Amino acid sequence: GDARLQAISNAIRVVPHFPKQGIMFQDITTLLLDHKAFKNTVDIFVDRYKDMDISVVAGVEARGFMFGPTIALAIGAKFVPLRKPKKLPGEVIAEAYELEYGSDCLEMHVGAVEAGERAIVIDDLVATGGTLSAAISLLERVGAEVVECACVIGLREVKGQRRLNGKPLYILVEPREIDSC
Ligand code: PRP
Ligand code: MG
Repeated sequence: GDARLQAISNAIRVVPHFPKQGIMFQDITTLLLDHKAFKNTVDIFVDRYKDMDISVVAGVEARGFMFGPTIALAIGAKFVPLRKPKKLPGEVIAEAYELEYGSDCLEMHVGAVEAGERAIVIDDLVATGGTLSAAISLLERVGAEVVECACVIGLREVKGQRRLNGKPLYILVEPREIDSC
């Protein structure tokens, strides 16, 4: 409920002007330090996805790795890391995406996900949505069905949901402007 979400929001440290002037950095490492808030975060995702026939939890390097595997284990799915370039040793497919300045890329191992599998994508935060869009593309290119993208933090629209590349986007809390940690 709302009390759980408020406690999750309160456990996220806001660091002004990191990594550069004007950015209010949403630091989820303090959420990971707070056992109750961390467990509630994972539990909310697990309750949502456990009966949705999900066989793939794809997590985005690096901060998506801090939530994805725990959720995958609890719902009986595999965990698939989507990594920054040149980290995965096997054959990969790659998807580039735009950043504010320049571009980046995510890679996924060929064979990790099969056509027809039902997947969710997990990350800590959605800002422009570029990262999640690349993740969706990787999964769809191998024929998986992306059921939803899930983030701890994101800008909220009506009814707490918005869409990304036609996929539902599930968000727990909004970014905060001031620090409560
Ligand atoms: C951050 C964040 C998301 C992404 C969101 O990751 O963890 O993955 O940016 O931004 P977007 O919606 O505008 O694409 P970052 O690339 O900074 O790296 P990290 O997770 O490896 O720290
Ligand atoms: Mg990230």
